[in-house]
Amino acid sequence: MTTVPSISLNNGVQIPQLGFGVFQIKPEDTVEAVTEALRIGYRHIDTAQMYGNEKQVGQAIARSELDPSEIFVTSKLNNNRQSFDDALRAFDQSLADLGLDRVDLFLIHWPLATVRDFTEAWRALERAYSEGRVRSIGVSNFQPHHLRRLHAETEVPPAVNQIEAHPYLVQDEVRAFNAEHQIATEAWSPIAQGLVLDDPAILELAQQHDRTPAQLVLRWHIQLGNIVFPKSINPKRMQENFDLFDFELSETDLGMISSLNRDQRTGPDPDTFDYVPS
Ligand SMILES: NC(=O)c1ccc[n+]([C@@H]2O[C@H](COP(=O)([O-])OP(=O)(O)OC[C@H]3O[C@@H](n4cnc5c(N)ncnc54)[C@H](OP(=O)(O)O)[C@@H]3O)[C@@H](O)[C@H]2O)c1
Repeated sequence: MTTVPSISLNNGVQIPQLGFGVFQIKPEDTVEAVTEALRIGYRHIDTAQMYGNEKQVGQAIARSELDPSEIFVTSKLNNNRQSFDDALRAFDQSLADLGLDRVDLFLIHWPLATVRDFTEAWRALERAYSEGRVRSIGVSNFQPHHLRRLHAETEVPPAVNQIEAHPYLVQDEVRAFNAEHQIATEAWSPIAQGLVLDDPAILELAQQHDRTPAQLVLRWHIQLGNIVFPKSINPKRMQENFDLFDFELSETDLGMISSLNRDQRTGPDPDTFDYVPS
């Protein structure tokens, strides 16, 4: 079976560099999708309170023959749970829904700098971390200015920053800031939800390597050092997205893919996004 490389987080915890994302997988489809992902060999699942499928992720883990400790599980705090007490309650609920005593990684999903104080939510995550109920804590969609504030006002530095990144949004600046501060970069929507797969330059390079466009783009992420967890409900594509470790891109190939950057987001801008579910 393919061995997925691990990345060492700033507290020594090892995270598989390739995982399986479950955003937009309906709860009723999630047990089957995660079961298939585990069968293929994925050992890292990325979910969130906002996705509404943590229970089903937990059911798939419980039904598998794997020990839960073999699967790296990430979840994220919902945008309407950022006060200290609420964040702790929401964290407890995630553990209960996932059916786990401890989660591997828990993130603040969005900074929501205009409507909330994310440092309060961070203190709640620090509490859960100090109690050993989460192995690492991190953030998502944080810009360098959000991270600077977190560093200045709180104790535990984030282990991870999960940001939108793909060939049309390479994110050199945030990735460099993360690297400089020992924060691992996770790339969400790594294939831009399919948008980059029809790019002529990507199609041509994929053909040269006898790989699919998705494999080419995911391999580019891996060689840049990004952690990725592409989503698919199609078993063939789930397998395709897992088969990334028997070919290599040259520096020229990597540079060519990075040069496609257009600073184009497919999701919200963290500096303006302030969606809080009721
Ligand atoms: N922190 C955040 O704010 C945030 C935001 C968005 C996403 N995420 C995380 O990142 C994960 C991945 O991002 P994403 O789900 O938005 O997008 P993505 O992984 O870039 O793309 C998923 C889309 O591409 C299709 N697809 C997957 N593999 C393919 C392949 N090999 N060839 C052609 N099409 C393929 C899927 O369709 P099928 O299912 O039909 O295959 C789906 O429509 C999420 O599941 C979630 O865990 C985090």
